[in-house]
Amino acid sequence: MSDDLAVRARLRAALAQTTRRLGEAGVPSPSVDARALIAAAARSERPLVLLETLPESFGAELEEFTVRRERREPLQLILGRAPFRRLMLTVRPGVFIPRPETELAVDLLREHLRGPLELVADLCSGTGALGAAVLDEIPAARVLAVEVEPAAAALSAENLEAAGPGRGSVVRADLTGPVPQLAAAAPIDAILSNPPYIPPDAVPRDAEVLDHDPHRALFGGGADGLGVPRAVIAWAVHLLRPGGVLVMEHADVQGAAARAAAADSGGFDLIRTAPDLTGRDRFLVARRADGAPSPGSERLTR
Ligand SMILES: C[S@@+](CC[C@H](N)C(=O)[O-])C[C@H]1O[C@@H](n2cnc3c(N)ncnc32)[C@H](O)[C@@H]1O
Repeated sequence: MSDDLAVRARLRAALAQTTRRLGEAGVPSPSVDARALIAAAARSERPLVLLETLPESFGAELEEFTVRRERREPLQLILGRAPFRRLMLTVRPGVFIPRPETELAVDLLREHLRGPLELVADLCSGTGALGAAVLDEIPAARVLAVEVEPAAAALSAENLEAAGPGRGSVVRADLTGPVPQLAAAAPIDAILSNPPYIPPDAVPRDAEVLDHDPHRALFGGGADGLGVPRAVIAWAVHLLRPGGVLVMEHADVQGAAARAAAADSGGFDLIRTAPDLTGRDRFLVARRADGAPSPGSERLTR
């Protein structure tokens, strides 16, 4: 057998065996994950069918990756990266892995904003996913990220710098208390936020989430999980310029409560809930009023 045919035979066997092992371990998408692990061990971005050589480390590395995935370590942490909109972000253990549903927040922002988009705050930034996407897609924009956890704040800085060199900065602070650097940045054109919002009694089931996403990234505080989200809304009233927009992710059962919190603040003339791509209510969109809110102002609710 020629060398390239031998490589393909080895890859076919690896794919069958890795898919079987991941399936037996309860991994929800064993074949997709097996392909990703094989490509990482092969150190190639090319389709597996086109590979003609494999590095010497292939077998040992694939075994290590497979064992980690069998233990339900998230695929993104094994690969060290996660896709987000047009970017490939660096991810690390101890920092929340960005999710595809969050990507929509950037489109909602552009849809609802009136006026220029120069300064954007990414509150509860984690890897810096939302802020990095803004820097990547809007070349004139600058981003100020705020994140409480030191490891996440450092990773935000890395991903922002990669996406838009010199246009992003990070403040490590707790948004439920005073953050002088953030207050000093007003007026801000837009705020994007995917804060922690899970209520204390809704414990996630997937091992990937429960064992690997930091608890502070999941649970929002308070009986309804909206402790940190309410702080984000209060910051938005304080920071946004008239016509500036807040887009904040929440759980599908929290739409009414998030709208009520925004309405109670008295600072927005448009308040609505936007669905994700599967139709579930997942985002609060609130636009800062031009002046004092008036009874006749535009108010959309679902
Ligand atoms: C659900 S994760 C989202 C991360 C990122 N925005 C994303 O979409 O991938 C929430 C993040 O908020 C941070 N966080 C939690 N409480 C916070 C607080 N009081 N002040 C600032 N950041 C906070 C967590 O450390 C975590 O990184």
